[in-house]
Amino acid sequence: MNDSPLIDISDVTHAYKTEAGPLPVLRDLTIRAAEGTFTAVVGPSGCGKSTLTRLVAGLMIPDEGEVRLHGELVKSPRKTVGMAFQNPVLLEWRTIMDNVLLPLEIVGTKLNRAEQRDRAMELLTLVGLDGFEDKRPSELSGGMRQRASLCRSIVHRPEVLILDEPFGALDNFTREDLWQTMHDLRKAETFTCVLITHDLRESLFLGDQVVVLSGRPATVQYVMDVTLGPDRVLDDLYTPESAENLHILRDQIKIAQGRDVA
Ligand SMILES: Nc1ncnc2c1ncn2[C@@H]1O[C@H](COP(=O)(O)OP(=O)(O)OP(=O)(O)O)[C@@H](O)[C@H]1O
Ligand SMILES: [Mg+2]
Repeated sequence: MNDSPLIDISDVTHAYKTEAGPLPVLRDLTIRAAEGTFTAVVGPSGCGKSTLTRLVAGLMIPDEGEVRLHGELVKSPRKTVGMAFQNPVLLEWRTIMDNVLLPLEIVGTKLNRAEQRDRAMELLTLVGLDGFEDKRPSELSGGMRQRASLCRSIVHRPEVLILDEPFGALDNFTREDLWQTMHDLRKAETFTCVLITHDLRESLFLGDQVVVLSGRPATVQYVMDVTLGPDRVLDDLYTPESAENLHILRDQIKIAQGRDVA
């Protein structure tokens, strides 16, 4: 049995090279996530959250420290990572089905064409998009496009799923629907997820741990282990314990922003 965490980010420090000189973005940042868990990362705007996701995906290599997935050092872009962003960026000239199939084309697959479509259809059905597979992205609502984007991000069964504020642009009701969809996907599929979010309720509803980053250069300021179980429902956010946890997280964000905690 391999006890090493699936995601192991150790003492990572990174600066962007800019015309004005180096811009330190991450400093001695350490995050560990066990296989199959969901880590929600919150922190002030511009502190380095998206930079962190690029390091995990192998799109960038840190100046210092290391990122390991399953014990293996990340040195180049990883095929075993799936990503979804605030803007679903679906290709308008492709149907929803063909958009979802895209990672299989890029990464390569042993599945034949019919099996690939079955795999995509399985996910589209799970998120409630069966019947929309032949539509174009512009024929779908924003929430439906984000659902399709989630299917696309896991169609190739990635080990690690990185979600960079995928629900940020949606209205509250649609966002809560998508949280539920995320739980459904989690029950049906196996992945270890890092979710970047500005929404503390979202971090609590989806996370097994919530990591609060400090202001830039970001380091881990606070980690909350979430005790809500896998069958959590929205009402669980309104218990006294959740209210207290939200309060703690809100105070941590204020500290990260350099504001006084009342
Ligand atoms: N390619 C780049 N070159 C130079 N500076 C960059 C680059 N990408 C990001 N930055 C800077 O690094 C800092 C961190 O950016 P990053 O996008 O990681 O923050 P973030 O926490 O994701 O912000 P937000 O919450 O607004 O999405 C910002 O000051 C940003 O301007
Ligand atoms: Mg960002």
